[in-house]
Amino acid sequence: MDVEFVSIADAEGDAGAWVAAVLEGGALTAGAQRLNGATDGAVERAIAAAAFTGARGKVLELIAPPGVPAARILLVGAGPQGDVGPGVVELVAAEAYRALKTSGAATMTLALDGAPPPLAAATALGVRLAAYRFDRYRTQEKADAKPSIRTARVAVADVEAARAAFAPLAALADGVTFTRDLVSEPANILYPAEFARRVKALESMGLDVEILGEAEMTKLGMGALLGVGQGSERESQLAVIQWKGGGDTPPLAFIGKGVCFDTGGISLKPADGMEEMKWDMGGAGAVAGLMHTLAARKAKVNAVGILGLVENMPDGNAQRPGDIVTSMSGQTVEVINTDAEGRLVLADALWYVQQRFKPRLMVDLATLTGAIIISLGHDLAGLFCNNDVLADQLLAAGKASRDELWRLPLPEAYEKQLESLAADFKNIGGRPAGSITAALFLQKFVRDTPWAHLDIAAVAWRKPSTIATIPEGASGFGVRLLNQFVADNYES
Ligand code: BES
Ligand code: MN
Ligand code: ZN
Repeated sequence: MDVEFVSIADAEGDAGAWVAAVLEGGALTAGAQRLNGATDGAVERAIAAAAFTGARGKVLELIAPPGVPAARILLVGAGPQGDVGPGVVELVAAEAYRALKTSGAATMTLALDGAPPPLAAATALGVRLAAYRFDRYRTQEKADAKPSIRTARVAVADVEAARAAFAPLAALADGVTFTRDLVSEPANILYPAEFARRVKALESMGLDVEILGEAEMTKLGMGALLGVGQGSERESQLAVIQWKGGGDTPPLAFIGKGVCFDTGGISLKPADGMEEMKWDMGGAGAVAGLMHTLAARKAKVNAVGILGLVENMPDGNAQRPGDIVTSMSGQTVEVINTDAEGRLVLADALWYVQQRFKPRLMVDLATLTGAIIISLGHDLAGLFCNNDVLADQLLAAGKASRDELWRLPLPEAYEKQLESLAADFKNIGGRPAGSITAALFLQKFVRDTPWAHLDIAAVAWRKPSTIATIPEGASGFGVRLLNQFVADNYES
């Protein structure tokens, strides 16, 4: 959806829905004051009549208000004045969009009269993120079920300053949208080669993209990744995306699990809910969206994104439980359960990125374990890290971006669970601490690089939505987090 900035004079004739914020205690923001004046006090009378307090999350609507062309005015509670910053404003704007989404109004105009540019920019971001929907394949939706709002206008005193403040946030919103689209696509459309094509198209943004196919990966010895894809008609791919904005410094590396569909393989998953495994490429989707964002805002950093793109299928050529594969690192793995495939994909991707790029640090993102949903629920992703400085940077970025993390341990004692009689180790560690043993497995492919693993199985897909900036479905988790992490710590 389009979000534009306009001057207050240019917005005044808007006949759609208007939005203005009220602070806790009932104090009107400058925008609300202007609307109150234009309506000859109707705003204040409505507030008094409804005992509206301006508490966060509360709204009050005036339909067909007098004295203005607006069809309605939505007053939104912004909470206590002291809390009003970009973070709160973004959420309030997203909630306002939600309240008006199917109101019948074609435009929403947000009155940010007295607000400084960062708050106007946060408003636009909140609406952009809240308005995301994936409707590419819906041909018969009833008109009254579709969102009526086509355009959002943020009315400000200084249009140029607001636009400038929004530029990096627009890059972020575009990156999140790119990720959400990838994650939403069904697996018959988005298989490894198609994912690779969509990533290759990012070269027009100034990114360098290489795509490796099975022949190249065979030469590199990526037996762990290739074993996962061998039961699929679709060719496995490795995408290598580089953003060079940081001179001669070694890059930051981001690695994504891109299982375009996870049937479980021969260790087949139950039918119920299996369709969800179309988003088992959420880690790769997040890395792609992050690289999109870094390029769009010309980040002053060197970064490399590696996507391990495979489909885990059970055909006659599929790998069997008990098979032993040799990873690029030379370490052998006994594949006890073919459904523990993400770690096999990441094993070779992690090794490759370290050998080729000697990165300053690496962060992998993966919808890796169902167990992380049991541990942390749907509001937190699991963080595993071999370096306390890196862990703290990620935790802080998580709080600031609202892509929140919770750190879990990597206890050496649990490595016993991965011991194999026949190979260097097994690919599963049994039921106890399933997310931790998965992370310990990954750690076997980490050399002396600072490394973090984010298990995003519980957060890549939201149902129901619990936060207005993240509609139901693909969340784009990880893009905001890592964009914030890069901006706060690694840009000169
Ligand atoms: N992709 C799944 C993990 C997953 C589960 C993601 C639910 C999102 C929602 C992963 O490949 C998997 O199947 N993991 C197994 C590991 C087990 C076999 C050790 C799991 O979590 O059950
Ligand atoms: Mn699996
Ligand atoms: Zn999987």
